[in-house]
Amino acid sequence: MLQDIPTPILRESRGYVLETERLTLRKPTLADVKAIAHLANDRRIAENTRRLPHPYLSEHAVEFVRATAGAGGETVFLIENSSAPIGMVGINWREPDAPELGYWLGVEHWGQGYGTESARAVIDYFFEEFDHDHLFSGARVANPSSRNILEKCGFQWSGVELHRFEALGSSTPVDCFRLSRGVWSSLKNWGSSMRRNR
Ligand SMILES: CC(C)(COP(=O)(O)OP(=O)(O)OC[C@H]1O[C@@H](n2cnc3c(N)ncnc32)[C@H](O)[C@@H]1OP(=O)(O)O)[C@@H](O)C(=O)NCCC(=O)NCCS
Repeated sequence: MLQDIPTPILRESRGYVLETERLTLRKPTLADVKAIAHLANDRRIAENTRRLPHPYLSEHAVEFVRATAGAGGETVFLIENSSAPIGMVGINWREPDAPELGYWLGVEHWGQGYGTESARAVIDYFFEEFDHDHLFSGARVANPSSRNILEKCGFQWSGVELHRFEALGSSTPVDCFRLSRGVWSSLKNWGSSMRRNR
């Protein structure tokens, strides 16, 4: 459940650092370009994310890090496990009224709960830092693990839309999800109940 993972937010001069049980989420810098390009250059990632090109080259990582550095840039966190980068998570503000959660992990880091853990941290950050009542996200209908993450985090399915995926060079159906502040807050406050024998 959401409340199982406390997410202390440490304010740093360069932005925020989010800490979870196993992960540190921080702003990426140009020093991370090689690691980002190495992790992201996999078709299994690109085919499930809307804007990641394939092949993913160092130039793409440089452009991405520079875009996140400017004022009003994207809300993006590099995910680290034991100081080693393992992926990326963030909020896309392209449509300011419909902020969108997105994430990807290097393939060797799949299947260990890191996707859920980092999504939860950024969801907490979003509702604690921004005055928005809804966070949006989506997963290709052929992407059950991402859909599972969204459902575990309290997102509710709102329909299917066609979206263009850069690496596919075409549009594909996407399950759309929405998380309301009310559901998030309810999950965060859902304390454990005790059962006693009489
Ligand atoms: C999606 C992604 C981040 C998942 O990361 P992860 O760390 O492996 O995910 P988690 O381990 O936290 O959770 C995945 C959940 O999906 C489940 N799952 C995995 N494959 C599944 C499948 N084929 N069918 C149903 N459930 C599946 C897992 O069992 C897990 O649920 P559980 O914790 O209840 O067991 C990772 O696969 C990825 O980077 N994919 C490519 C990019 C991408 O899809 N990004 C999302 C764009 S919307």
